[in-house]
Amino acid sequence: MKIVVTGSAGFIATNLIPRLLDRGDEVHGVDNFFLGKRSYLEPLRARERFTFYEFDLLDLDRLVKLFESVQPGRVWHLAANSDISFGTKYTDFDLKGGTLVTYNVLEAMRRAKTPEIVFSSSGAVYGEPSVMPTPENYGPIFPISLYAASKVACESLITAYAHNYEIRSWIFRFGNIVGPNPTHGVIHDFVLRLRENPRELTILGDGTQSKPYVYIVDCLDGMEFGQKKAREWVNCFNLAVDDQTTVTEIAEWTIEAMGIDRGSIELKYTGGSRGWRGDVAQVKLDTRKMTALGWKPKLSSHESVRRTIRDVVEQFRNGPLA
Ligand SMILES: NC(=O)c1ccc[n+]([C@@H]2O[C@H](COP(=O)([O-])OP(=O)(O)OC[C@H]3O[C@@H](n4cnc5c(N)ncnc54)[C@H](O)[C@@H]3O)[C@@H](O)[C@H]2O)c1
Repeated sequence: MKIVVTGSAGFIATNLIPRLLDRGDEVHGVDNFFLGKRSYLEPLRARERFTFYEFDLLDLDRLVKLFESVQPGRVWHLAANSDISFGTKYTDFDLKGGTLVTYNVLEAMRRAKTPEIVFSSSGAVYGEPSVMPTPENYGPIFPISLYAASKVACESLITAYAHNYEIRSWIFRFGNIVGPNPTHGVIHDFVLRLRENPRELTILGDGTQSKPYVYIVDCLDGMEFGQKKAREWVNCFNLAVDDQTTVTEIAEWTIEAMGIDRGSIELKYTGGSRGWRGDVAQVKLDTRKMTALGWKPKLSSHESVRRTIRDVVEQFRNGPLA
C-alpha cells in the first residue's frame, strides 16, 4: 500500500516506518524538522520504497500536490507540536501546528480521495476527569492545555470529514509513549541533563505526577491491531497500560542506570502538583475497549520506563543527536 506518514522524522514515526517498509508498503514521509531529527531519519533514507519530503504541513498547496501525485491508500497523521509546554508560551502554536495542520491533511485527503487516516491523539483530551480510569465515552471533555484543546479539535475535524467524505478513521488516545529515538519528554530530558550535570537534577512539580508509560513496540502493535480489527467509519481507542509511574521513580531509575552515585546528587523539585501549566498530573486511562478486541500490551508502565531509560542512555552515550 502507498502510505503517507506525517511527522516522519519524529519519535513515533521513525519507529513505525521501518515496520511499514519491511511489510512491503511504499512510504512517503513529510517533516519540517521542527522537533524531528535528521539522524533518526538517516537510516530510512537509504531504504527502497521510502521517499522523504521536507516541508511545513501548513503549506496546503504543497500537500495537495503530494497527495494528488502519490494517491495514498492511507495516512498515518503523526505530525504535531508534541511538546505540550510550548503552547503555554505561544498561544497560536497548537492551533496552527495541530488543528490547522490536521485540516490541511484532511483537505489533501478529500481532494485526492484518500480513504483512511490513523491519528495520534492523547489522553490529555479528557483534562482532569471525574472518572478514572477514564473510558473513551467519558464526557463532556474539558481539556486544560492548548495542546489538548487542539487534539479535541483535530478529532472533531476527522470525524466530520469521515462522515462527509467517507474517510475511515482510527483515533488513538495515547498514554505517554516511550522508547528509542525520543525527541522530547521526561526520560529524554533527564538523561541529557544528567550527562551535563551528574550532581543535580531539577524535577518539575513535586515528582508525584503519575502516568501510564507505553513502550513504543506495544503502541505500534496496538495501533496496527486496532486499525485491522475495528471497521466503523470512526474508531476511537485509549492506548495505554493499566499501571502508572511517577516522575520521581523515573528520576531515581535514570540516576541508577547512568551509574551515578545516589549520595552525590541532589534532586531539586520546582514544587506544585503539576509539571507545567496545563499538565494533567494524574492520568489513568481505561483500556478495556482495546483489550476486549484482543490487544494486550507486553510491558507494564514500569517495564516500559526502565527499558526506555536503557535505550536512551545507550543512544545518547555520546551526547544529544542532531
Ligand atoms: N509521544 C507521546 O507520548 C505522545 C502522547 C500522546 C500523543 N502523541 C502524539 O503523537 C504524535 C507523534 O508524537 P511523537 O512523540 O513522535 O512526537 P515528535 O515531536 O517526535 O514527532 C512529531 C513530528 O512532527 C513534525 N512536525 C511538527 N509540526 C510539523 C509541521 N507543521 N510540518 C511538518 N512536520 C511537522 C516534527 O518535526 C516531528 O518530527 C504527535 O501528534 C503527538 O502529539 C504523542
